[in-house]
Amino acid sequence: MGYENLKFDSNTLFLVTGGAGFIGSNLCEAILNLGYRVRCLDDLSTGKLEYAEMFMSNKNYEFIKGDIKDLDTCIAACKDVDYVLHQAAWGSVPRSIEEPLYYCANNIAGTLNMLEAARINKVKKFVYASSSAVYGDDIRQPKREGDEGNLLSPYALTKMADEHWAKQYTLHYNLDTYGLRYFNVFGKRQDPDGAYAAVIPKFIKLLLSGKQPVIYGDGKQTRDFTYVDNVVEANLKACLASHDCAGEAFNIAYGEREELIDIYYALAEALDVKTAPQFGPERAGDIKHSSADISKAASLLDYKPDWSFERGIKAAIDWYKNNLI
Ligand SMILES: NC(=O)c1ccc[n+]([C@@H]2O[C@H](COP(=O)([O-])OP(=O)(O)OC[C@H]3O[C@@H](n4cnc5c(N)ncnc54)[C@H](O)[C@@H]3O)[C@@H](O)[C@H]2O)c1
Repeated sequence: MGYENLKFDSNTLFLVTGGAGFIGSNLCEAILNLGYRVRCLDDLSTGKLEYAEMFMSNKNYEFIKGDIKDLDTCIAACKDVDYVLHQAAWGSVPRSIEEPLYYCANNIAGTLNMLEAARINKVKKFVYASSSAVYGDDIRQPKREGDEGNLLSPYALTKMADEHWAKQYTLHYNLDTYGLRYFNVFGKRQDPDGAYAAVIPKFIKLLLSGKQPVIYGDGKQTRDFTYVDNVVEANLKACLASHDCAGEAFNIAYGEREELIDIYYALAEALDVKTAPQFGPERAGDIKHSSADISKAASLLDYKPDWSFERGIKAAIDWYKNNLI
């Protein structure tokens, strides 16, 4: 269970793209805590410099401010790297509908640059962030790898394209790639601000400041909310996975589903506030239900998430209380 006992060669170097963002900074922190070296590549487009600066006094940490849309930057960042954990991307469904060209350039061409850079530098494994969005409009629950439907947003398309490109790099260039389909990750350092903020940090911040959060739709939509340490576990275990399952994609979630309205009341209760939610119209591109079957990752990556939703929400609330007030 967990990742604390995983062992790599003592001089191992990881590259985390998007390492100044929410998931990426949690990955960097975990790698440093395990005693290994990590290089972070981030253009700070949605990430924060302070999430890189907090590690800079550690001799095992290196920060490169750079853009994955530039191939030379990616090649330089991959030098001497053992494992790439590629997180850099733009992540919002509504924003991708507003800016399809940018999403194509950033999320697809940027990932292709990273695959090429990893191939040139002969990295051992290329682990990358995909998304539950690739299941599109398929209504079967829980989601199983192979049950993908019609894609509902440009964002989903970019993640599906990344999976196809990664597969090609495994097929033709002997690069071991592993796609991790994250399901609604939450936890410390997830940005609560802006029009595209994820629902849990946004609700926590609004409730803490006495404001009334808006639920889009009837609140009956379900999600497999996954604490960020489970995602860290999946990334590190994928680095140790067998060559036989390279080129594959895996659901990474906790494996349970929660209704959004229940999340709202759980947060309100934990924060001891009585504010009722407002309801707004459903948002274009949103999936109604999303829960994961995680048995493929369990059997092929030895993924055994030990952070339940309740445990994770408690840790997240503690962090926001200490860092927002
Ligand atoms: N958070 C979730 O619930 C979730 C769910 C599914 C998939 N994902 C995927 O996980 C990854 C990490 O997401 P996150 O929630 O940490 O988002 P985030 O916005 O906090 O982190 C993304 C990071 O990538 C950086 N970045 C973006 N474009 C870049 C570029 N061109 N060059 C260099 N750096 C760039 C940003 O500055 C940011 O630091 C993304 O690929 C996202 O699509 C996240």
